[in-house]
Amino acid sequence: MNVHAAALAKAHRFDEQTSAFGRDVIDDLSQHPKRLSPKYFYDAAGSELFEQITLLPEYYPTRSELSILLDRRSAISAIVPDGAALVEFGAGATTKVRLLLNECGFDAYVPVDISGDFLKAQADALRKDFPGLAVYPVAADFTAPFTLPDAVGAMPKVGFFPGSTLGNFEPHEACGFLRSARDILGQGAQMVIGVDLEKDERVLYEAYNDKAGVTARFNLNVLHRINSELGGNFDLSAFRHRAIYNRERHRIEMHLISRRAQTARVLGRSFSFRAGETIHTENSYKYSLERFIALARGSGWTPRESWTDSAGMFSVHALVASD
Ligand code: AVI
Repeated sequence: MNVHAAALAKAHRFDEQTSAFGRDVIDDLSQHPKRLSPKYFYDAAGSELFEQITLLPEYYPTRSELSILLDRRSAISAIVPDGAALVEFGAGATTKVRLLLNECGFDAYVPVDISGDFLKAQADALRKDFPGLAVYPVAADFTAPFTLPDAVGAMPKVGFFPGSTLGNFEPHEACGFLRSARDILGQGAQMVIGVDLEKDERVLYEAYNDKAGVTARFNLNVLHRINSELGGNFDLSAFRHRAIYNRERHRIEMHLISRRAQTARVLGRSFSFRAGETIHTENSYKYSLERFIALARGSGWTPRESWTDSAGMFSVHALVASD
């Protein structure tokens, strides 16, 4: 999901996407407590910072998931029917999908992402490296219903949703996404999905409060984006990053904390902050295997197999669409 809106970063014009961004920012900063949607982290700079996060020693999810996909490649390949199309929800770095394409003999690949420019670049690179593969990019918001290209209509479908992006959805949104993916992929579809697991709270804390401060820059980047795209005047040095584990709700919460009493202006509106007041910017839900399996069952999918890495940090699940 994560190299979104590279084009938007360049686009200073007040286009449709920008006005949706402006509306959301005004609405979300008017809430008590204030909040901002994590989907706005991913302009070009935010996507680059996220790629850096995936390489941090403290940030285990990417490495752990890759190790599962590699170790379980034959088992994953065994669930892929002949002549299948792989449909990836969100299109970030291609490392994981390349691993599946190498192993599983797909006939077609359908990456779905909101950023058309990014998709095109990714599709061109994959066509070059996998000459026998038909690539049909779909520029769409994958959290809303969309239709698959006619060319893959008759093919068996395998959905792919790696990276525990599901964890950034509220539980009801996660259920909604799984239901909609089930409808889009259709009867008999398979799904391979990566889900981060609950674990020692210190490990979680460190993964979202890295020593090099990359996660802090990623979090603060949303204010930079408001300044550059919406003409805001946030003083970035007057906010600090905070990530905490909320045990009752099984989630890491990211916040931006105002270091002092201050006022910021966005699109002609003023927002006042008390010293210590928070903007809640992201939740990253962590699941037990049982809780994820229950969620999948309640959302139109039958769990087929679940795999974890040797340290039990992360999980990958093979699901099949329930009749
Ligand atoms: C994209 N998503 C799964 C990441 C996560 O771990 O929730 C986003 C992230 N936020 C801070 N670090 C990484």
